[in-house]
Parts: sequence; C-alpha cells; structure tokens
Amino acid sequence: MSEGTGKGGFSLFDAEERILDGARRLLDRMKDGDPDLLAEVGVLADAYSRSVREQRRLVKVSDRLQNQMTQLNQELARRRAEAEEALEQLRQAQETLVQTEKLASLGALVGGVAHEINTPVGIALSCASHLDDSTKAIRALFEADDVGVDDFERYMDTAADTAKLIVANCERAADLIRSFKQVAVDRTSSERRVFRLADTITETVTSLRPNLRQGGHEIEIACPADLEVDGYPGVISQILTNFVMNSLTHGYADGRRGRLHVEADRGENDHVRLRYRDDGQGISEEYRNRVFDPFFTTRRGSGGSGLGLHIVFNLVTGPLGGSVVLENTPSAGASFLLEFPRVAP
Ligand SMILES: Nc1ncnc2c1ncn2[C@@H]1O[C@H](COP(=O)(O)OP(=O)(O)OP(=O)(O)O)[C@@H](O)[C@H]1O
Ligand SMILES: [Mg+2]
Repeated sequence: MSEGTGKGGFSLFDAEERILDGARRLLDRMKDGDPDLLAEVGVLADAYSRSVREQRRLVKVSDRLQNQMTQLNQELARRRAEAEEALEQLRQAQETLVQTEKLASLGALVGGVAHEINTPVGIALSCASHLDDSTKAIRALFEADDVGVDDFERYMDTAADTAKLIVANCERAADLIRSFKQVAVDRTSSERRVFRLADTITETVTSLRPNLRQGGHEIEIACPADLEVDGYPGVISQILTNFVMNSLTHGYADGRRGRLHVEADRGENDHVRLRYRDDGQGISEEYRNRVFDPFFTTRRGSGGSGLGLHIVFNLVTGPLGGSVVLENTPSAGASFLLEFPRVAP
C-alpha cells in the first residue's frame, strides 16, 4: 500500500494538500482585512497543518507495523512447517517402535512354543522307549520259548498304557502347535476374520503359560464359547500379552503368586466388554493418568520402555475402534476395561 492512499485509489494526502493550499490563498486574500479574523484563521490553518503532519506520521508508523506483521506471519508459517515435519518424523519413529515391539513379542512367543511343546513330546518319547524295551524283553522270552501267561499279560498292560499315553501326548503337542500357529499367523498378518473370542483368549494364554508357571501364577478365563467377533484376533492377542506381561513384571515383582482374570461378554449395542485384571500391587494414584502415555514407565533403566500400554491404547482405539480405561478398583490390583464393537469398523 503506498503512503497515505485510501481505499479505492483516493489519495487522502492530495486532498489535505489542496485544503492547505486553499487556506494559504484565503490568508493571502485576507491580508488587508480584519487583523483579529486573520489571526484566528491563521491559528486554524496552523492547527490543521499540525494535524496533517501528525496524520502522516501515524500512517508511516502503521505502514511499518504492517510490514512487521507480514514478516511475523511468514516466520510463523515457517515455524509451523517445521513443527509439522517434526511431528511426521515422530510418527514414523513411533511406527518403527511399534513394529519392534511386535517382533519382540513374537520372539517371546517362539520361546514359549518351544518350552510348552517340550513336555508332551518328552512324555511321548519316554513312553515309546519304554514300550520298545518291553517289546524287546518279551521277544527274547518268546524266542527262548519261555513266555509265561503272567509275562504276556504284563506286556499287554504295558503296551496298552504306553500307547494311550503316546497318543494323548502327541494329540496335546499337535493341539499346541495348531494354536501357536494360529496366534503367530494372526500376530504377523494382522488379518481380519471372524473368530471365536474364547479361542483367541485361550490360545494366547496357552502361549504365555511358561511365563505364568514360572512364578506360580494362575489365570482364569470367562468368555461365552459362542461369542464371535469379526475383527483382528492378532490385535486382541497382542493386547492380552501386554497386559499379562505387565502383571508379571509390575504387579508381582515381589515374587507373590497372582490370580489373573480375563472376562469377556456381550455388552450393549453389539459391543464386546473385555476386562483384564490382576490382584497384584496395583497402580498408585499419582500414575493413573499417565499409564497410557508413550514412554511412561516406572521401570526405566531395568528394561521398561513405557510403550506397552501406549500400544494397547492405540490398538484398541485404532483397529478395534473402541476404548480402554484403567478402572478404579476397591480391591488391590490393576483392572483394565475394553469396550469395542463386535464387528470392527
Ligand atoms: N498390572 C500392572 N500392575 C502394576 N503396575 C502396572 C501394571 N500395568 C502397568 N503398570 C504400570 O504402568 C506403567 C506403564 O506400563 P507400560 O506397559 O506402558 O510400560 P512398561 O511395562 O513399563 O514398559 P514396556 O511395556 O514398554 O516394557 C508401568 O511402568 C507400571 O508402572
Ligand atoms: Mg509393559
């Protein structure tokens, strides 16, 4: 904007200049007239020209301020772009951390599988070798033509018992492999499908059994067998894993034996309500508002990254389209309530 130019190209200063000229001409013509009148008009003309000077000064100040404003706005836009870029970088870093956490929990899962399958396979193996020994012994007696009725009956009993144990334990191992496979596939693919919630809970808990057994903890599941969810079983599994691992590391750090509960049921409006609770040391009042914050941990320096519950929060509010709250419990322990639509958005 050029100095003193008003809206629509009309120049304020030109008009003022013309008035001042007029005043000077008037004073000229009145030179020989009434001196009092002349003096008064002179005073008026002076006052007007002072006011014009002041006005021009103000216009200059206003122009300067306007320039400064423009600069400030540009600076602000630049800062905003920088902040947005930083936020984007933060988002990417978070994404990477989430992926890392996923891999870490998968690693724990693989360890759990190996440990858990050891037992039935070990039992089946020792039964098979016992059967092998007994068979060799009875064959030796048979070849020496020395098999008594008692020997034969004992052998038959052994064969029947060991065969039953071998079959049962092989079935158990096959079951475990099947459920681990499901959990692993769900975890890595984050695929959507229709699943029975009770199955996913059981499979996940089974994969965590070695960790639970170590501290002598018990876990109880209550979920209607026919409750079907159309969504992401891998997400549910990861959420539960984080809850259980938190109970073990924070709730029972003192070595106490815990009772953990997973309870799920149909809620209102075709929603699912899933409560996870433990009877450990609980979460103190001052931390309650912060547990879902990224990087909030009370175990910094001893392995805690503070991302576990933040990831839970993101999974529940993101893919599941629901909510999660830390409940106020009258008794000891921590209790989390999830609510999400039975059919994921
Ligand atoms: N079941 C629980 N009992 C007691 N405190 C808990 C429980 N679950 C979470 N907390 C508290 O909430 C904090 C945040 O949990 P979060 O899972 O986000 O992080 P973390 O377990 O410390 O670290 P990370 O999970 O990344 O290894 C914990 O440090 C702990 O103080
Ligand atoms: Mg954790």
